[in-house]
Amino acid sequence: HKGGYKHFMAKEIAEQPVVIAETIRCYLPSGGDMIDLKEADLDFSKVSRLTMVGCGTAYYACLTAKYWFEQLARLPVEIDVASEFRYREPPLPEGSLALFVSQSGETADTLAALRYCRGKADHILSVINAAESTMARESDIALPIHAGAEIGVASTKAFTCQLVVLLILALKAAADRGTMSAAQIAEHVAALRSLPGAVNSALEQSEAIRRVARHLSEASDVLFLGRGLMYPLALEGALKLKEISYIHAEGYASGELKHGPIALVDTDLPIVVLAPSDGLFDKTMSNMQEVIARKARVLLITDEAGVAAAGGDVWSTIAMPAIHPALAPILYAIPAQLLAYHTAVAKGTDVDQPRNLAKSVTVE
Ligand code: M6R
Repeated sequence: HKGGYKHFMAKEIAEQPVVIAETIRCYLPSGGDMIDLKEADLDFSKVSRLTMVGCGTAYYACLTAKYWFEQLARLPVEIDVASEFRYREPPLPEGSLALFVSQSGETADTLAALRYCRGKADHILSVINAAESTMARESDIALPIHAGAEIGVASTKAFTCQLVVLLILALKAAADRGTMSAAQIAEHVAALRSLPGAVNSALEQSEAIRRVARHLSEASDVLFLGRGLMYPLALEGALKLKEISYIHAEGYASGELKHGPIALVDTDLPIVVLAPSDGLFDKTMSNMQEVIARKARVLLITDEAGVAAAGGDVWSTIAMPAIHPALAPILYAIPAQLLAYHTAVAKGTDVDQPRNLAKSVTVE
């Protein structure tokens, strides 16, 4: 049941501080920095390449994790959507670890990609929500995300819990490969432990986001921009919006703006800029100024320091609590979800059961 909420999606967005805390407790049980993968026997020092595959939101979780595994563990990563991967029939070099991300564990293309990797990859690992699923059964190691049942077709809490597990795996990889010091790992773990509280504060922006969403619901197209770890989230924010509000939305890497999409920019194209004040903030701000100069209405999602540094002509800002840069995609998923949700509610669409979509895509 919806527990007093109007939609399952609203309930599942609101549950995130609790389910994220639970996921963290399962993989970092001691209160210290010790990562516990239970019986899973995984040594990343023996892995030469990680291949990650998923569909939709699960694929965007893979894309986010690619940044973590490459930057933190210096591990080469290949990712693809399952429907391309399986027919591409890519060679898997020796030492490959294949990782499949799926909420349901039943998605036809992801399952076919997993079966393709059997016998070709050294290990088959899955990060799944449905612990009893086909993918969980057919993997060497299945890591549950502990998000609880997700009913809304738009994936929300499964995405953030997938990210938590993938970040913890990247930290484990960094530890195994000696690419991070104990102090650096401890710093990331401490940041993870503060995440549920930060997610709670992000949820407090719901009302402010609802006000902006009223305007957004009148747009026919919306552009999402982000750089680095915010790029996959720009894609995810656009997917969420198009799924449930039926507004055409696209996510772009900020640096790609000049290579085409800037031609679309005018007063009728609202642009959502995802930019925590991290090392890439100034670059994203200069992209933002370029669209503002072309009279775009910009909704900037940033932190307090970002609001102060952004300057004047921004149409609207939403402030997130300050967060460790590595964790920003998990925290900034909240306003992206809320924006899609409130826009869909303003439009009066069927939030939990959007047209043409199924929760679990078991046919290709
Ligand atoms: O169950 P899965 O995680 O394998 O599902 C993958 C996609 O079908 C799913 O994420 C889809 O994109 C969602 N509707 C996104 O909100």
